[in-house]
Amino acid sequence: MTALARHVTTVAESTELSGSSASFAADVIAGLTATPKRLSPKYFYDRAGSELFERITELPEYYPTRTETGILTERARDIAKLIPEGAALIEFGSGSSTKTRIVLHETKSLAAYVPVDISAEFLSQQAGTLRADFPKIKMLPVAADFSEPFELPGAVQQLPRAGFFPGSTIGNFEPHEACAFLRHAARVLGHGAVLIVGVDLVKDTGVLQRAYNDKQGVTAAFNLNLLKRINSELGAKIDLDSFEHHAFFNRERSRIEMHLASLKRQRLKLGGECIDFRAGETIHTENSYKYTVESFGALARGAGFVQTAVWTDARSYFSVHVLTLREEPAPTRPRPDLAAVG
Ligand SMILES: C[S@@+](CC[C@H](N)C(=O)[O-])C[C@H]1O[C@@H](n2cnc3c(N)ncnc32)[C@H](O)[C@@H]1O
Repeated sequence: MTALARHVTTVAESTELSGSSASFAADVIAGLTATPKRLSPKYFYDRAGSELFERITELPEYYPTRTETGILTERARDIAKLIPEGAALIEFGSGSSTKTRIVLHETKSLAAYVPVDISAEFLSQQAGTLRADFPKIKMLPVAADFSEPFELPGAVQQLPRAGFFPGSTIGNFEPHEACAFLRHAARVLGHGAVLIVGVDLVKDTGVLQRAYNDKQGVTAAFNLNLLKRINSELGAKIDLDSFEHHAFFNRERSRIEMHLASLKRQRLKLGGECIDFRAGETIHTENSYKYTVESFGALARGAGFVQTAVWTDARSYFSVHVLTLREEPAPTRPRPDLAAVG
């Protein structure tokens, strides 16, 4: 992450990202001049990207949303019991908050809901609808990059907190980044906090590949929207027809990879840089890591969490993990018997 790309959201209720276009430009140039070329999946999510993602969640091939929603509906009461009275629920990457509504309906004593999302305009619109539907819960949206330091609204600083991270968004991180993210989430949530995480599981390759190559081409449009965004926000003139959506399961790395492949040899001009593409060269736009219940448990343990419950669906397509922070190790003090020696 470059210095330009770093920002800290400090206002109590924020629905505008500060410095976002400067960091977008810097990251796009850095990513397209790197070898191999890559862009962060967080940049999929402008307003159009968020709306396209919502369409993906309804596709017949896209099993994750339906499956996770089923698990959360079945376990809503168990989840409500995990959330302390008068707590604030902090969601990382809230999107439309559709799944969160299941938790909000069931958790009667919730004081506040803090959806954190990078898609500022979409976030603001969703918060408006949530306020109308849940008038007793304080809705405090924060537009921020959840992987960077951000400040929680003042109104929730003294409240107990629970975290929610559905959608297998954690799979977009490299495993070591996912571990770092969990440590960061632990700091945001505070001592003894519970974090509920949705994680997509390894399964039949055909099922996985179909989920990211839908027949209607919505996932392709979502991927290509990144180039559209570069055109509209950074003044590039990329011919969208000269790139194609590719998605496949990389078994060795246990991840779906999404790429944008250049259909021809071409040169793009961006911020004074010339960016050359060979025919067939790709921009790596997303990874979606698939875990097993055990491999994700090991990752969570590495970040200092205990996996206190795991729920899956009948086909074991998706998992929802309840993570609690391990007790802080006691500070090391010399044992009296040893202190006396020598
Ligand atoms: C895969 S969608 C999941 C949405 C929703 N939680 C769900 O389960 O359907 C990822 C969400 O995280 C947001 N997001 C992605 N990267 C982000 C980042 N670095 N910081 C904040 N939000 C991010 C996106 O805008 C999007 O709403």
